[in-house]
Amino acid sequence: MPFDSIPSEGSSPASFEFTFEFYLDRSRRIEADPNMSSGENSDTQSLTESIYAYHEQYGRTYHAYHSGSYNMPNDMTELERMDNQYELTKIILDDRLFLAPINVIRPPRKILDIATGTGRWAIEIGDKFPEAKVIGTDLSPIQSDLVPPNVRSEIDDGNEEWQTGEDWFNIDYIHLLATIGAWSDWRQILAQAYERLAPGGWLEVQEFETDIDSDHVTIPPDNALRRWFADLQQASILADRPIHHAPLFKRMFIEAGFVEVHEKVYKVPVNGWPRGHRLKRIGELWSQSMREGLPGFSYALFNRWLGMTTEQIEVLLVDVRKALAEKRGCPYERFYVVYGRKPETPPVEDMILD
Ligand SMILES: C[S@@+](CC[C@H](N)C(=O)[O-])C[C@H]1O[C@@H](n2cnc3c(N)ncnc32)[C@H](O)[C@@H]1O
Repeated sequence: MPFDSIPSEGSSPASFEFTFEFYLDRSRRIEADPNMSSGENSDTQSLTESIYAYHEQYGRTYHAYHSGSYNMPNDMTELERMDNQYELTKIILDDRLFLAPINVIRPPRKILDIATGTGRWAIEIGDKFPEAKVIGTDLSPIQSDLVPPNVRSEIDDGNEEWQTGEDWFNIDYIHLLATIGAWSDWRQILAQAYERLAPGGWLEVQEFETDIDSDHVTIPPDNALRRWFADLQQASILADRPIHHAPLFKRMFIEAGFVEVHEKVYKVPVNGWPRGHRLKRIGELWSQSMREGLPGFSYALFNRWLGMTTEQIEVLLVDVRKALAEKRGCPYERFYVVYGRKPETPPVEDMILD
């Protein structure tokens, strides 16, 4: 049975808690030309230039390295949205950077943040574990230079074999936050993480589901926000970057060989409808993040894969924004956190010698 048809364990709404890291590839060092002359006419220069030669379309900029792989922009508007979303996820998680049982008593020595974005999480985890080497990877060189000495960023395509070298194996903790739309095959991502982890190391994936729900009413499929999510899912499948996997992660972790797999699901109000201050704030931040993100989420996917013009997309987004502001029905989106451990001892079948 394909993964996509397996329901996630423990994911009935009743069981939910209503609480609601450029790519200068530094490990593969660029060999210096022994006959180099002064002046900048080297492979180094062209590599750096190609990373920064952003693709421009729809009034936005998109990553240059492996251009076309990711459908979200990488301009200031998107970076601000990313940082706001990061703040939101921290509030959802009660200021925790992770839920996996890593701690300062037995601190991780190597940490990998795949698709690190602006690198905020990598910086903060680097501050928390100053003895750990932290690497954040991304397609775009959008990370801050102001990082702790133990944190570095690398341009790397997570869909391909990750870099090799000492720092890229025997990792104690691998983290992916809000990376849907980046991957062609989540199973391949989990398999590679499993391979790169040290025995006993942890993988944690934190991700929003791409639909809304309610405990008060049935939100009809023709609700503009639900329809937009459905269109986004369809375009993402056509783009070979499916975005609907969050509810399937737990099962996928187990299938990939992880043990002690935990899933925690948070309900995130889509605007300020809740009564309580904290949840109201979470809803307002989510709504703001979505408003900022709607054009960037939609332009490339809907134009390239659904054939819509930017004018048609803008018209559609008017209704989506209205639906986003609708408080009746108390809509929420689920946020999934799944973590699991690579066994200390390999499964028995791996130990059988031919
Ligand atoms: C929504 S952002 C999230 C960034 C960060 N994890 C956070 O939560 O703030 C997704 C990031 O994935 C990166 N990305 C997309 N496809 C990628 C790929 N194939 N390999 C590495 N990074 C990728 C994008 O450049 C973007 O920075």
